Amino acid sequence: MKHSYVIDLLEGTQLLQEVTAKGWVRAFRNNQFIALNDGSTINNIQCVLELDAFAEEIIRKISVGAAIAVKGTLIESQGKGQKFEIHVKELEVLGESNPEEYPIQPKKHSLEFLRENAHLRVRTNAFGAIMRVRSTLSFAVHKYFQENGFFYVNTPIITGSDAEGAGEMFQVTSLEVGNPPRDENGNIDYSEDFFGKETNLTVSGQLEAETYAMALGKVYTFGPTFRAENSNTTRHLAEFWMIEPEVAFNTLDDNMDLAEDFIKSVVGYVMENCKDDIDFLEKRLIEEEKSKPQNQRSEMTLTEKLRFVVENNFKRVSYTEAIDILKSSKPNRNKKFNYIIEDWGADLQSEHERYLVEKHFKCPVILFDYPADIKAFYMRLNEDGKTVRAMDILFPGIGEIVGGSQREERYNVLVEKMKALNIPEEEMWWYLDTRKFGTAVHSGFGLGFERMVLFVTGMSNIRDVIPYPRTPKNAEF
Ligand code: 4AD
Ligand code: MG
Repeated sequence: MKHSYVIDLLEGTQLLQEVTAKGWVRAFRNNQFIALNDGSTINNIQCVLELDAFAEEIIRKISVGAAIAVKGTLIESQGKGQKFEIHVKELEVLGESNPEEYPIQPKKHSLEFLRENAHLRVRTNAFGAIMRVRSTLSFAVHKYFQENGFFYVNTPIITGSDAEGAGEMFQVTSLEVGNPPRDENGNIDYSEDFFGKETNLTVSGQLEAETYAMALGKVYTFGPTFRAENSNTTRHLAEFWMIEPEVAFNTLDDNMDLAEDFIKSVVGYVMENCKDDIDFLEKRLIEEEKSKPQNQRSEMTLTEKLRFVVENNFKRVSYTEAIDILKSSKPNRNKKFNYIIEDWGADLQSEHERYLVEKHFKCPVILFDYPADIKAFYMRLNEDGKTVRAMDILFPGIGEIVGGSQREERYNVLVEKMKALNIPEEEMWWYLDTRKFGTAVHSGFGLGFERMVLFVTGMSNIRDVIPYPRTPKNAEF
């Protein structure tokens, strides 16, 4: 008989039928009650053994973490906490789990401890929930774009260009690392390299996505990106997944509309389709909040936060207005937002962003028209000659979740900008071709997938929403 998934058994549709289930023991009480989890849902199915019906040597092998198969009848449960349970007739221990050694016990482990056991942490309720939500969120991303006429483009992981011009790239080379061949000037001679030139892991698929948008109209990427920025924060990973839509003929306003609609849609989808997991994560957060001082507790529950994003318009504010707001605020009176007020032209620090989102507007904010000097080379210059058509979306508790722009579609303006920034034209000839042949207004953005998962799960460290986080000095698994 094929085994049933716990998620289906808990529906009770196979009531009074003979069923088999396979999974891992989450708890074993009184030599009689097994809480079995197979990963299909946060909920366990209770498996009841008739007393003395199983040999002592089998009972001894049933411990937390062991893989088992049970066969029995699905019945209505007399006990509290579950509607249905399996009255077990046969039980096989498929794989034992030595209780002396197994690190994951039915108690609350610290997130730090679980990070050190990243290969086992997904067996806990919290990580099971997070990773199921992550999976559903990926599906929602594809669903949204596919249903809205976008084509999925796979941009290269290994690239010869620096899309963001920020120089934060991991190099890919087949040359001997410590002793590469050098030319007469002492520069590394890449002619012997596998690709015959310097190559890196991509920091963004945007430039390639732009070339595709200029033929397919509406495209999106969803893939891994890599950044060698040495930021040891709860919001940065060296390897993260980014979603980058790019749309021909879209202006910055269209781009903001798309980003807002997209975010609302995927958050709404997850609320609909991951109810049990979100409920669990919400309760977990409420417990966590209790250990904080009253004034630091969140005013909203997780569900309220998610619903707020789905139901309210994001506030759209220009960079210049934001600077004015920050200048007239009194940050130092409020310890939580203790920052130095910057002059026009400075990049915003995360404290500034948090003030705007969490204190001033109290809702997601789209900041646009940033100073050209603090943004990437490809952004459309405004008529004022000093700002660009950039936008960042800032989320409460997260900070920047989206970065995007209308692109500079004018060949001459783009070339001038590249010259000023020493970006070699000859290496970017293919990108410049889009501006030479049938150029048009176009826009796009990048959403950091893990920051989205952080928001939806209410977790506070980005290391806890990706299976195997890559951060400085950390690539254990
Ligand atoms: O703002 P960024 O650098 O924008 C780009 O890469 C553009 N090429 C996107 C585009 O217009 N197509 O990155 C986009 C988003 C950020 O807003 C943030 O959510 C996320 O990617 N991100 C990171 N997430 C985790 N770890 C990091 N180190 C991240 N760096 C950026
Ligand atoms: Mg950015």
